[in-house]
Amino acid sequence: MRLKRDFTKLLDINEEEGMHLLERAKILKKIRNNKKEYKPLKDRTLAMIFEKASTRTRVSFEVGIHELGGHAIFLTAGETQIGRGEPIKDTARVLSRYVDAIIIRTYSQDIVEELACWASVPVINGLSDLYHPCQILGDLFTIEEVKGDFRNLKIAYIGDGNNVANSWIEASILFGLNMAIATPKNYKPEETLLEQAKKNKGFTFIDDPYEAAKDADVVNTDVWVSMGQEQEKQERKKAFVAYKIDEKLLKNAKNDAIVMHCLPAYRNQEISEGIFERFQDVIFTQAENRLHVQKALLEWLIKNE
Ligand code: CP
Ligand code: NVA
Repeated sequence: MRLKRDFTKLLDINEEEGMHLLERAKILKKIRNNKKEYKPLKDRTLAMIFEKASTRTRVSFEVGIHELGGHAIFLTAGETQIGRGEPIKDTARVLSRYVDAIIIRTYSQDIVEELACWASVPVINGLSDLYHPCQILGDLFTIEEVKGDFRNLKIAYIGDGNNVANSWIEASILFGLNMAIATPKNYKPEETLLEQAKKNKGFTFIDDPYEAAKDADVVNTDVWVSMGQEQEKQERKKAFVAYKIDEKLLKNAKNDAIVMHCLPAYRNQEISEGIFERFQDVIFTQAENRLHVQKALLEWLIKNE
């Protein structure tokens, strides 16, 4: 038994652990595709605290723990005492007496980290304003599956310097990726992460989306208006016009480049309808793969061997 581990951000794990999770995801996907049973988490329980909307994260975690033999309890702030002001540190200690792991989707990263600090069971970040680590783990798995490897490719992220962008930067630090990020000047990712990532020669941060897409093997984007930013919608739509992934932008990438989107996608904002549909198979495989990497994560965190 080792000390309990958390997954509040990608840099909570090291490179070897990251590779282990991707390898396990591959095996778990094969077991599922072959309709074989594998239930290492029999009778284990996952608490799922959601303070923001979700389709993929919620369903893939619920299905994932169920397939591994355990079950999930879905909790919202409004229907628990969290919404009435019960401190996170108390919630953490109470839930730790009942369940084997906790996933939380919330606003502030501080809440995720406070929960992890006080819980005696593993805590997983299901998205905060700062990070979306489960998404990028799934995206790396998808790139490996579609392209064979993610290390010798140019991966571009074009759009908002948000939680998804920050987790991509963490991935570039963790795995030494060849990565280009392009965001408008006023919508940059976290400065401290950029400083750390820039130490790797393969990493570039610019504001020109065409430069980021140049010779890219993978082009990633995300929504321009994240959950909690709805009141900024009009100004954001104007600021990001040049960052839309469309035919013209994609011409700069390699001929066999793929386009990825973590979803939900807003057509004719961050991605054109034509590009979305051309890459729909990759994009929906990307959504499916959340299930496989998160099962690997649950297995690793809860079995704790
Ligand atoms: N990509 C993603 O996390 O989707 P949901 O918001 O639907 O969970
Ligand atoms: N950046 C988006 C990701 C949604 C999965 C958001 O935070 O709303």
